[in-house]
Parts: sequence; C-alpha cells; structure tokens
Amino acid sequence: MSELSVNHLLGIKDLNSRDIQLIFETADHFKEVINRPIKKVPSLRDITIANLFFENSTRTKLSFELAEKRLSADVINFSASQSSVKKGETLIDTVNNILSMKVDMVVMRHPNPGACVFLSQHVNASIINAGDGAHEHPTQALLDSYSIRERLGKVQGKNVVIVGDILHSRVALSNIFALQLQGANVMVCGPKTLLPKYIDKLGVKVETNLKKALEWCDVANMLRVQNERMDMTYFPSTREYTQQYGVNRALLNSLDKEITIMHPGPINRGVEITSDVADSKQAIILEQVQNGVAIRMAVIYLLASKIKH
Ligand code: CP
Repeated sequence: MSELSVNHLLGIKDLNSRDIQLIFETADHFKEVINRPIKKVPSLRDITIANLFFENSTRTKLSFELAEKRLSADVINFSASQSSVKKGETLIDTVNNILSMKVDMVVMRHPNPGACVFLSQHVNASIINAGDGAHEHPTQALLDSYSIRERLGKVQGKNVVIVGDILHSRVALSNIFALQLQGANVMVCGPKTLLPKYIDKLGVKVETNLKKALEWCDVANMLRVQNERMDMTYFPSTREYTQQYGVNRALLNSLDKEITIMHPGPINRGVEITSDVADSKQAIILEQVQNGVAIRMAVIYLLASKIKH
C-alpha cells in the first residue's frame, strides 16, 4: 500500500512528487465523500487530534476541524489567546500537557517560523503545520495546486505567477516548492521591496510589472499585503500599491486570454483584487476553500495511517 514518505507535514520542502500525487488521489476520494448526503466516514474513530492556534485563522482552523470531524476523529481545540500561554507556559509544556490527555496528532499554527519543526523534535505526536510565521503553509499550497489541477486539468507545464507580498508570505514559499515539484513554471511579481533579495535562487522568474506577469501566466495567485508582519513601510501608500499590483477587470480584459485568478484569503477587496474579479467565474477562490477540506482529510488520513498505537 502507498504511504507518505514523512511522519509529519512540516513543509512542502520535505515532500516528494509521489507524496503530492498520493495526497491528491486520496483527496479525490474524500471530495466524493463530502459531496454525499452523509458526509462522514468512520476512518479515524480511534484518533484524537488537537488543533493549536497561536495565531488568528478563519479558513484553516475551520477547514481542519471539519476535515477531522468528517473522518470521525475526536477533536479538541486550543486558542492561545484564551489559554495559560498568557500566564507564561512554554510551547513544549503546553503541548505535553495536551498530549498527556492521549492526543495522537497536533495541527498547529504559530507566528514563529520553525515552531512546528521544533515541536516535532520534542513531542511524541504527528505534527501538521497550519502556517508558521513567514515560513510555510503546506496544506494551503496543496489545496492551491489541487485547485489548479481541477480547473486546468494538470499543474505540469502551467505558468503560475504569485503576486504581491512575497517577502512575508508562507503561502508563497510553500506554493513555489509545491508547483516546482509538479513541473509548473513559477514567477513572483511585486514591488522590489516585497521580493526577498535572493528569491531567484529558488529557480523562479522575477517580474516587477504586473501587466507583463499576467501576459505570461495561466494562473495568477494574488496575495494580501501582510501588514501584521511588517515593522516598516514597504510602499508609499495603499492606493499606489493597488494601482501597480492590484488586479482589476480592465487589466484582465486587456489580456488576449482568460487567466485563472486565485487568492488564499483573507481578501482585502479593492486592494490586491477588485470585487468584480474576486466574484467572477475567472476566480476559483471559493473552490480553493472547498478543496481545502478534502486535502486536509487526505493529509490527516495518510499521516494517521502511519501512527503506531
Ligand atoms: N488562507 C489562510 O490561511 O486563511 P486563514 O488565515 O483564515 O486561516
């Protein structure tokens, strides 16, 4: 039987192309399950999962919880803002206390890059990274590629541009790794101040002109400016950012083809994307969210099958 090459999902960097193919094939099955009248399977009745969120989330938190419940796992939720972390407890102590309640798997979002790797080295549970600072967001990249595959038939050979705040984006890094593993051509586009200095070393094309980037691509993944990770000003004003790096209907109509528009959410309407584009048939933003449940079911199921009781 096929299994993942990893015991944790810490980042796309640790996966190989066979892992991604296996996750997609498993997600295909679960996508069919969640479209049935009874959307639940008993696969993980013996598994307990803790969702630990040390940073805000809407989509990822709800999507993991729904995926776990659809698989019949027992689920406990932890939000740092309402916990004893505020009283000075360390990450390892917090997690070991939770694990002493016989938890098998931990899904964690944390503001510090590397927090999930650190945890996987110190606790005895399978760890899934739900976003660690500006490092990786592996399930987002998997659901993004899965959604491209669904819309365009395949990922291999497609031209994908990631637009915006690449510097502070875990979505960008995980997408670059995932898309390259599947044979896509990847470009990043944004103001120079929001592009990491050595980004070209990752084998991506670099473009600062949005119109040229859109002319090149089949898919544009629009990112939000991540103000919460900024300690200085990176562009003169939001209005000027939007003028140069926001996608709008006129810009899309000026292209000689119809490209696919993606966004990981949350959207800042009128900044990186106008409402008429976000809500158009060209955009697959809600399909991405829908596919997130099937992808997370697949990841959880495949990692749970490696847990030795
Ligand atoms: N895409 C994403 O990670 O969204 P949330 O921050 O709402 O989870």
